[in-house]
Amino acid sequence: VNSYRIASIPADGIGPEVVDSAIEVVEKLAQTLKTFTIEFTHIPWGTAYYKETGRYVDKNVLEILQGFDAALFGSVGAPDVPDHISLWGLLLAIRGPLQLYANVRPVRIFPGTQSPLRHADEGDIDWILVRENSEGEYCGQGGRSHLGQVWEAATEVALFTYVGIERIMRFAFETAQSRPRKLLTVVTKSNAMRNGMVLWDEVAAIVAKDFPDVRWDKMLVDAMTVRMVNNPKSLDTIVGTNLHMDILSDLAAALAGSIGVAPSSNLDPTRKNPSLFEPVHGSAFDITGKGVANPVATIWSAAEMLSWLGEKAAAKVLMDSVENVCRKNILTPDLGGNASTKDVTRAVCDEIETLGVAN
Ligand code: NAD
Ligand code: IPM
Ligand code: MN
Repeated sequence: VNSYRIASIPADGIGPEVVDSAIEVVEKLAQTLKTFTIEFTHIPWGTAYYKETGRYVDKNVLEILQGFDAALFGSVGAPDVPDHISLWGLLLAIRGPLQLYANVRPVRIFPGTQSPLRHADEGDIDWILVRENSEGEYCGQGGRSHLGQVWEAATEVALFTYVGIERIMRFAFETAQSRPRKLLTVVTKSNAMRNGMVLWDEVAAIVAKDFPDVRWDKMLVDAMTVRMVNNPKSLDTIVGTNLHMDILSDLAAALAGSIGVAPSSNLDPTRKNPSLFEPVHGSAFDITGKGVANPVATIWSAAEMLSWLGEKAAAKVLMDSVENVCRKNILTPDLGGNASTKDVTRAVCDEIETLGVAN
């Protein structure tokens, strides 16, 4: 049987609560199926570590992560540290340097849950958002004049390279091609942004030539928000820039029922570096420590991790278990239920046992 070593980085806020839950169900899955073994190694990076050591991560962060097959991440950010310090200290110190350039964010409505859209039922939202994860406004370039008061000026550079756009575009077309509808929507803002966004449009047209069986169209990001709400069934795979897809993925999660179920995979498609899996949501200060965080986003992220590592059958058992739990209306408050994080975790473990025996 295959063995995997996973770096677990729960970090801040509800991160530890949801990562604990995901580890518990994955360990249950491994014990039940016996088709693979998995070992989680706790890494204490986060705000407590920062307050102790002055750093969010160890100096050799990349080398440490390269010793694992993948990483499972919770969330970073604390009320008493400026968000740009915490995020650049930890999460953004990993995504860019490890070249995890494809951020894949699937979205769908689970059985037994409700979309805020009046006419959307299970199956009506089934999207894969592909987020460019290394460029754009997240390249870390820019500066401030420090002239003070009204003379202060600041820039936030959005960097786009042909190589960076081409590789994510190719990944997105391949993703669309692998799905039944073979449908891709390319999101830009090439009316107002006349450089980088126009390059995106041009590269899309070039890469599209290699995928004649994929139907594709272009949307401006503002109009895209309207289409997501008014005509969700017209969409399947969606690709866009780092910032645009950051925003659209939160919208997509809310349309599917809750930010508490939205997973993400930060992939290095070349597989030179380990990939990192995490919920889309953040530290959720308002519910931290209350035991009600929805663990589904992190459990689904762990399923995506298993799938990426090659354990597709195990990933399917895990997601079938989550679906059954939703169908039985064992839901946390964000989905309108009154179950706790632990209730959902226990219910998923019970389903794994049932499905695992049936297998
Ligand atoms: P957030 O995602 O933490 O919370 C937004 C809302 O969604 C809150 O009401 C929260 O309670 C709810 N929510 C989030 N996850 C939930 C879950 N699993 N179950 C139930 N409800 C859930 O976004 P925010 O408030 O903008 O950010 C809080 C902090 O987290 C900030 O420091 C921010 O920078 C950071 N953040 C980190 C990440 C990350 O590490 N990947 C992502 C987003 C935000
Ligand atoms: C996300 C988060 C991060 C991002 C933040 C916390 C840096 O919002 O993963 O969606 O903007 O990428
Ligand atoms: Mn986000």
